[in-house]
Amino acid sequence: MIYESGDWLAGGDLEVLDRIRWNDGLDSYRLTPNELRVKFKEMGADAVFAFQLRNPIHNGHALLMQDTRRRLLEEGGFKKPVLLLHPLGGWTKDDDVPLPVRIRQHKAVLEEGVLDPNSTLLAIFPSPMQYAGPTEVQWHAKARMVAGANFYIVGRDPAGMPHPDKSLDRDLYDATHGALVLRKAPGLTQLEIIPFRVAAYDLAKKRMSFFEPERKQDFIFISGTKMRGLARSGELPPDGFMAPKAWKILVEYYQSLKDQ
Ligand code: ADX
Repeated sequence: MIYESGDWLAGGDLEVLDRIRWNDGLDSYRLTPNELRVKFKEMGADAVFAFQLRNPIHNGHALLMQDTRRRLLEEGGFKKPVLLLHPLGGWTKDDDVPLPVRIRQHKAVLEEGVLDPNSTLLAIFPSPMQYAGPTEVQWHAKARMVAGANFYIVGRDPAGMPHPDKSLDRDLYDATHGALVLRKAPGLTQLEIIPFRVAAYDLAKKRMSFFEPERKQDFIFISGTKMRGLARSGELPPDGFMAPKAWKILVEYYQSLKDQ
């Protein structure tokens, strides 16, 4: 990767680093930590809760954010919690959804009211993805703390990926370790970690719910591979899995790949 990047790498003391502009129509979403803090102030935030993501938002992700807002309002006594919806903007795997498509998908989720547009700030976190599970999660959390977040949501298997040895048929990292290391990590004193258990599609309630092992027969897990398959073939996911307008954007994207 280093050789492929060309003659652009610098070492030693850096004296000047101009702001990077991508000129891809998304620069207005690339806010510095100080700019984010100004925005939170303008929005009247008395608490900021951050959500890191690299995938399209389904209603399971939304459940984590909705539940955090509810808890901050009802139990935390906050009046204006603001969500920092902070998708990762740097390099991701080839089979991940590209950033411009994800931003359109996230905007559709906000337009459909699954997340409250008035108390959400959508911005790009300009980091590459390293798929380093519990190790990477600490970078994800600390970077948001520096940008003014007081609360950080962590769900199941953050920054995870399937094990490269397909015969093992499991994820590379323990799904609960991300939340565990964050709770133990030094230096996160100004950030409260809000851990969540896994959300899955609930056949009984016809929506995404937190998994309940006592009625595991009611739940199905819709993996990234399954989602891609449905979108490619133009099929609909189960009702309540994703905001319809947001799903349409994914279908258009995956169908455009078929034409290539
Ligand atoms: S990540 O690489 O940024 O972690 P993703 O965009 O899928 O991937 O996840 C964003 C956040 O949602 C992470 O905190 C992750 O743990 C959480 N998450 C993703 N899917 C689920 C799920 N089904 N149930 C609970 N948490 C989830």
